[in-house]
Amino acid sequence: MSQSVVLGVIGGSGLYHIEGVETVAEHRLDTPFGAPSDAIVEARIGDRTVHFLPRHGRGHRLLPAEVPARANIHALKQLGVNHVLAISACGIMQEAIRPGDMIVPDQIFDRTRGQRPSTFFGDGIAGHVIRRVPTSTRGGTYLCMEGPAFSTRAESHFYRNAVDAAVIGMTALPEAKLAREAEMCYALLATGTDYDCWHEEEEDVTVDQVLAVLQANSALAKQIVSEVATRLSAESACPCLRAAERAIITDPAVIPP
Ligand code: ADE
Repeated sequence: MSQSVVLGVIGGSGLYHIEGVETVAEHRLDTPFGAPSDAIVEARIGDRTVHFLPRHGRGHRLLPAEVPARANIHALKQLGVNHVLAISACGIMQEAIRPGDMIVPDQIFDRTRGQRPSTFFGDGIAGHVIRRVPTSTRGGTYLCMEGPAFSTRAESHFYRNAVDAAVIGMTALPEAKLAREAEMCYALLATGTDYDCWHEEEEDVTVDQVLAVLQANSALAKQIVSEVATRLSAESACPCLRAAERAIITDPAVIPP
């Protein structure tokens, strides 16, 4: 069965609001998991309503491990969002990717420390959502590290050699997994900002460098948001929208065909 597509945008470092779009409302929501990172701005882009949430809060108040991901996804869900475009600054782990390139990873490798609340299940509700079936497209692997310190050189080499990571960041988890549990389609738009610390000819990552690339790229990121808002179909029957259909039924006898 298809659903009307409702788009939410989670903006990362350097993308706290989108100028030039018409703001319709600001939603200050509460959730069973506390308050989200900030008010959610409801805006119109063309014919589409877009709900915009700055992941780190306006003014970048929250460290990656402090981002209330469960509250963020719950609040977007309360507003009817079922498609999330998440934007994130990332370190680059492959020579072929250049600073300013935008990547859409198709895999995530978890190197957080397991301390971030990462499921809506638990407390008596045992649920398991399945991973999406792999596709033939190869967007590359996003390695999600704990932070806030950047990687050591030894770690950076390990992520390249052992994981074959394309990009490295600190925020896509648990956000992406929670979006799946909440039956949302989730796409990550990663902006490559630096070569972390593995590259022999390039500078090691600094916050100034990350911010400079993000600033230079912000018009492009906003243009992509507008294009996605304009081009997304009105309806979707994507299986993501039913990802939890069988999540809490563990007796095979009661699983419908
Ligand atoms: N975000 C931007 N650059 C990064 C890096 N090198 N490591 C982790 N997160 C990042």
